Order: sequence, then C-alpha cells, then structure tokens
Amino acid sequence: MNALELINYGSNELRKAGISSSSLDSEIILSKILKKEREKILINLKQEIDQIKVSIFKKLVKRRSFKEPLAYIFKEKEFWNKLFEVSKDTLVPRPETELMVERLVKIYKGKKIRILDVGTGSGCILIGLLTELKHSNGIGIDISNKTVSIAKKNANKLLPNKNVKFFINKIEAINLGIFDLIVSNPPYIKSSLLVNLDKGIKLYEPKIALDGGNDGLDVIKKVIYKSVEILKISGMLALEIGNEQQFEVSKILTKKNFRIEHIIRDYRENTRCLISRLTR
Ligand SMILES: C[S@@+](CC[C@H](N)C(=O)[O-])C[C@H]1O[C@@H](n2cnc3c(N)ncnc32)[C@H](O)[C@@H]1O
Repeated sequence: MNALELINYGSNELRKAGISSSSLDSEIILSKILKKEREKILINLKQEIDQIKVSIFKKLVKRRSFKEPLAYIFKEKEFWNKLFEVSKDTLVPRPETELMVERLVKIYKGKKIRILDVGTGSGCILIGLLTELKHSNGIGIDISNKTVSIAKKNANKLLPNKNVKFFINKIEAINLGIFDLIVSNPPYIKSSLLVNLDKGIKLYEPKIALDGGNDGLDVIKKVIYKSVEILKISGMLALEIGNEQQFEVSKILTKKNFRIEHIIRDYRENTRCLISRLTR
C-alpha cells in the first residue's frame, strides 16, 4: 500500500468509529510510524510503505478507533512547545493549561521565585514554568508514585539546570518550606459526573487525576487551605478549575483572605483558571 491508500484506510476506519479528527489522526499515526513529518509524507503520497509498517499502522488505528488518546498510544504529548513523556498513569497535558503557564510567565518573568506544583502529573506545568523562569526553582508533588517518576524523567530531559525536585506526597501532608507561588491543576470533576465524560477520557485517563469528590471541590479545598499556611506573604495561588466552579471557588478563596487578581478564560470564554494573592 502507498501512503495515500494507508491514510485513507485509517481515516475511514476512524471516521466510522466516530473520531472527529479522523484524517488528521490517521496522518499523525503514519508520521509517527515512519518517523517523518506529516508535511513530508503529504508531498510524497505515492511512496510505498513496507508490509511491517502497514500492519503496525493498522494495529494503532484499531487502538485509536476504541478512543484511546494518541498521547497514550505514543506515550508523548506536546506541551509548551516541548515533548513530554506521558503514560496511562498521568493526565494528558491540555492546551488550556498552557494558558495558565503563559500568564504566570508574564507575571514572574525575570524574577527568582520558589514554586510548588500540586498534583504535578507529567510535570508539565512546573517544567513549562521553569523553562522560562530560569532563575527560579520548584517542587512538584503528586500522590501517584508512577507520575512522579515520569515527571522526573521529563525534567531530566527538558530542564538542563535541574532546578526542580519531585516528591510523592499529598498536599494535606507536605512540609517542604514556604513558596512564592503555588500552582495546581487538581482533580475537579464531581464523582457523579465522571460517567458523562468522553469515552477517550473516561476509559483511559487516571480516575485519581479527574475525581474531585462529591462536589468536585475536595482537592481544590485542600490546596487552598494548605496554601494559606505555606505561601509567603503576598504569595500567589494559581488554580485550574472547572468553568462552573468559578463562583464557589472564589467564595472559598475570599474567605481564606485571597484576592483574585487574574481570571483566565479559554477561547470559548470558559473560565479555566483563577490566580489569587494571599492578603495577610
Ligand atoms: C488533573 S491532574 C493534573 C496533572 C498535571 N498537573 C497536568 O496539568 O497535566 C491532577 C493530579 O493531582 C494528583 N492528586 C490528586 N489528589 C492529590 C492530592 N491530595 N495531593 C497531591 N496530588 C494529588 C493526581 O494524582 C493527578 O496526577
């Protein structure tokens, strides 16, 4: 089969399975197998693909047709222009989370700060921040030991000056000193709503990274309460939240003496992140 025939085959299979990005995904799968940029494949669609690669391609298309995210199939995801290793134990880094990184980089550019990333997963937020804030340093914690080893690997590859440490720990229990900035993309989905998530999320992403308890606020509250104790005076807390949680989370923050200074919305105008300052 040539590249065009294979891309069309993959695209048809994925479309039948209800994958909206069927053509793109088919092209990406082929480009990963051939280790060649998509664009280079598209200008030479008549190239013949050897039988072994054809059968690998078909296997991976099958996996994708069951809604398995490409990030888990290839064990990598681009975030903040860098390629992060991911596994089924880590959440797949989301483009929306880059909006939080982008704003924090603007706020802290050129400053030397100490950062805590709560629920670090692949380490994408902290590593993204530290690639820009080169004089700063940070600690990432997660209750999942497997994510912590992935985060360490990512830091080794992406942060040459090693200004970062990762620990297996839960926010409720940490005792690692005080911080200028605490960032977190905690699990924030109500337990009862997990069944409504897209299959690709529900079947493949770790529940521990999604489940925010009965009201979705279990871990968010823990992060806020602990931040009061471990933030420096006028330190900042950046929290990724669900769109419909803005009112409730703002209320908790205000009650705990935080002043909301930045509200980050995505391109659909959904609230994605609150950045607030401890005022005491
Ligand atoms: C939504 S994921 C975020 C992962 C990563 N920061 C990102 O943005 O892609 C939430 C992470 O929080 C971790 N987590 C859940 N409860 C926690 C707790 N009490 N303390 C620390 N980490 C926790 C989960 O294991 C998961 O890796």
